[in-house]
Amino acid sequence: MIPMNFKGRDIISIRDFTREEVDYILDVAERMEPLAKTGCDLLKGKILALLFFEPSTRTYLSFDVAMKKLGGNTIGFSDPRTSSIAKGENLSDTIKTVESYCDAIVIRHPLEGAARLAAEIANVPVINAGSGAEEHPTQALLDLFTIKKEKGRIDGLNIAIMGDLKYARTAHSLAYALSLYNVKLYFVSPELLRMREAVLYDLSQMGVEYEEHTSIEEVIDKIDVLYVIRIQRERFPDPSEYEKVRGSYKITRKTLEKAKKGLIIMHPLPRVDEIGFEVDATPYAVYFKQPWYGVLVRMALLALVMGAIE
Ligand code: NCD
Repeated sequence: MIPMNFKGRDIISIRDFTREEVDYILDVAERMEPLAKTGCDLLKGKILALLFFEPSTRTYLSFDVAMKKLGGNTIGFSDPRTSSIAKGENLSDTIKTVESYCDAIVIRHPLEGAARLAAEIANVPVINAGSGAEEHPTQALLDLFTIKKEKGRIDGLNIAIMGDLKYARTAHSLAYALSLYNVKLYFVSPELLRMREAVLYDLSQMGVEYEEHTSIEEVIDKIDVLYVIRIQRERFPDPSEYEKVRGSYKITRKTLEKAKKGLIIMHPLPRVDEIGFEVDATPYAVYFKQPWYGVLVRMALLALVMGAIE
């Protein structure tokens, strides 16, 4: 591994990274596994601020765990109602204040562009933990890491991303992340929730091979990875639009009858009703392994941007 210097770098969009950089982050994540088990003091004395303006379970907790496993500490909030935002403070003033308390900032915000704005304001590295429907780059990195660990490689795979491809930031970041590899993509969604035009346009420009489908049955016997996403109900501008697509797709044991041996099913979680509970016990399901891989990837990112390792 040739060392790369990530010190001081922001992680806002997966599109800001080259394949070499992504591969390097995944290699560092691999090296984190023994350290995650025992804990270490690579970031001793450092503080990470977690600013979550939207609900979260895994992303918030895994950044918190990752920082603590590296010997550092965390401050922040997971409910903006408990911060001065509730008194009318703007994002810029919040960031200017918080940066003087910490060595890096993780931000999740409902507005697209909010993480980029925070990065422009802050002098410490800023990590985007979800910017509206736009991007979720650290999730995409842990998704790549999961594929690599579970399938042994990323190149050469057929990968379906299924569900709400319009509003899910995880779908957008993952599609861009996979575009760095030699893969074939299948976007499976109800007509109303098709992948954003802008993403499809970018993929075409990059020469990425992809197909669009409305039913998973059309591709289930071809794919090596099935990535499922819930309908992002909170992002629908009109509740009647949500009613039209509610419950419109679901993976069950029956769906998997024609699945390739070795298929893996992934999900960023939370799951609502798009994967039947009976699928959890099948060898295909790897979605409850992803949270652990997320800790390793986030340890790697924190250690890299705070300059603890090269
Ligand atoms: C995702 C998110 O917040 O975008 N969750 C996560 O971070 N694992 C997916 C989702 O909410 O559906």
